[in-house]
Amino acid sequence: MTETVHLTINGLTVETTRGATVLDAAGAIGIDIPTLCYDPRCAPNGLCRMCVVEATGARLLQAACVTRAVEGMTITTESQRITRARRTVLEMLAASTDLSETPDALAQIAETGADIARFAGGRERRPPVVADNPMFVRDYAKCILCWRCVQVCAEDAQYAFAINFDGRGFDTQIATFFGKPLPETTCVFCGQCVGVCPSGALKPLRAWELEHPDGPAA
Ligand code: FES
Repeated sequence: MTETVHLTINGLTVETTRGATVLDAAGAIGIDIPTLCYDPRCAPNGLCRMCVVEATGARLLQAACVTRAVEGMTITTESQRITRARRTVLEMLAASTDLSETPDALAQIAETGADIARFAGGRERRPPVVADNPMFVRDYAKCILCWRCVQVCAEDAQYAFAINFDGRGFDTQIATFFGKPLPETTCVFCGQCVGVCPSGALKPLRAWELEHPDGPAA
């Protein structure tokens, strides 16, 4: 028998199954919580903090995509505090990342009134576009480090384990082991990483060439 739990979201009582997240429960009653790193095809990882909500009794904002719904929980998904937190996430992301092809981020920048120039002059990541194989390109300037590509390359789908996080802080990026060209790794060119990329950082080579007829990737 499936156990159920009851919680309140924005004043509405919701019944959901034990193990469901706050994001799941909110979605079931039509309450939209913004996300960036979350993708239903991947295990939630709580990396971007765009989905933060207030939970009664919790001192800190909680990431809805990884917070399990528990009996009696009371959740608020919109408040000044939440908007301020989401705005800051976006402003910091924009300081180092080209978000021009991340529609979810652009929508939230408009929604929250984020000032994407707030941290301008910080340390931008503008590495060259990498095209070391005949299938797709990696445009690191657009990578929001959502982790989805790493997940589908590993346990969430393909079990190829060709890529992972590398570096720390502003120097963090998705990389192959020892920085090897993709054809020299365990990559099988299944394309699932391209399929889950939300920011234009991974693209089929042909699509890239059509967009940049004069700018061959490195
Ligand atoms: Fe929840 Fe990114 S969507 S932390």
